[in-house]
Amino acid sequence: MPLMTTKPMFDLAYAGGFAIGAFNVNNMELAQSIIDACAKEKSPCILQISKGARKYANIRYLKAIIDAAVAEHPEIPIAIHCDHGDTVELIKTCCDDGYTSVMIDGSHHEYEENVKVTKQSVDYAHAVGVVVEAELGMLGGIEEDVVGMDAHEYEKNIEKFLTDPQQAADYAKRTGIDSLAVAIGTSHGAYKFKHDAKLAFNRVEEIMKTCPGLPLVMHGSSSVPQEFIDLVNKYGGKMPNAKGVPEDQIHLAATKYGVCKVNIDTDLRLAMTAKIREVFATKPAEFDPRNYLGPAREAITAMVQRKLHVLNSAGKTDAVIAQWKKLGSPMPKFYK
Ligand code: G3H
Ligand code: 13P
Ligand code: ZN
Repeated sequence: MPLMTTKPMFDLAYAGGFAIGAFNVNNMELAQSIIDACAKEKSPCILQISKGARKYANIRYLKAIIDAAVAEHPEIPIAIHCDHGDTVELIKTCCDDGYTSVMIDGSHHEYEENVKVTKQSVDYAHAVGVVVEAELGMLGGIEEDVVGMDAHEYEKNIEKFLTDPQQAADYAKRTGIDSLAVAIGTSHGAYKFKHDAKLAFNRVEEIMKTCPGLPLVMHGSSSVPQEFIDLVNKYGGKMPNAKGVPEDQIHLAATKYGVCKVNIDTDLRLAMTAKIREVFATKPAEFDPRNYLGPAREAITAMVQRKLHVLNSAGKTDAVIAQWKKLGSPMPKFYK
């Protein structure tokens, strides 16, 4: 049952030249596509659930779907992660629901309040064997339940929002977090840059020096491939000026720096939407959901496979399982 925390994954990823893809799950098709891609590529993965996903799908359904995926594919190391948990209460609920990893996102608070809610989350989660990611700095982009800001404003004032390396060291020491989500120029959604798409790798290097060995996390890491934007627009969509992080920069972050987890949601949404639009436009008489959700599922699988190669996590399942066993096959209390 290689459901696990992210620890065995990050132990290997930190200096191993790869990162784990964290993909957002909102329904059965997304979960199946991600797992199918990981099975094909022999890649570990993180299935993450946002507050919006909990609201949309009902966590009992989502958890049951993920449990089914784990049972179907015991050969894949899988972590269930809470994406952007914004309160300590939500973190506690996720730990009690059987998540193996949680993110407390206190980045919208003043620093001392962020430290406080993060520490409270860590105390609760660690006591039940769950690992904690937390965020320092500010990301741009606005999602349903995630705080952010307009891409133009963000780019204009970028220096002010990037993670401060000295503060990161203080934060990690005072909270005991297991991984740190850093603001280095990425943002959520499909409109990440008005100008040049560029990440602050010098900032990552500085953070790696002030926080040696701390696994780093990149949010907002979709690439918004132009061919998918073109398909969406060709079949009746309207997404002008969409722009993501170039895949070569994601590859660099995953392979040459201490980035262990890379969050991708928008690219999966794009693959799904482009395919559904194509079916509707080319087969206007179609009304069986299986005949548009099925092709959409295949398109998401192909997108995830592509990402697993960008992150260089393909072929890493056995090594991660070996590391998990070496650590004594740790599991959160929920599963004991
Ligand atoms: O970081 C945000 C993720 O893309 C989740 O978005 O809050 O709309 O589910 P959501
Ligand atoms: P994207 O919007 O770039 O896919 O980022 C997703 C994310 O960071 C989820 O936490
Ligand atoms: Zn995010």
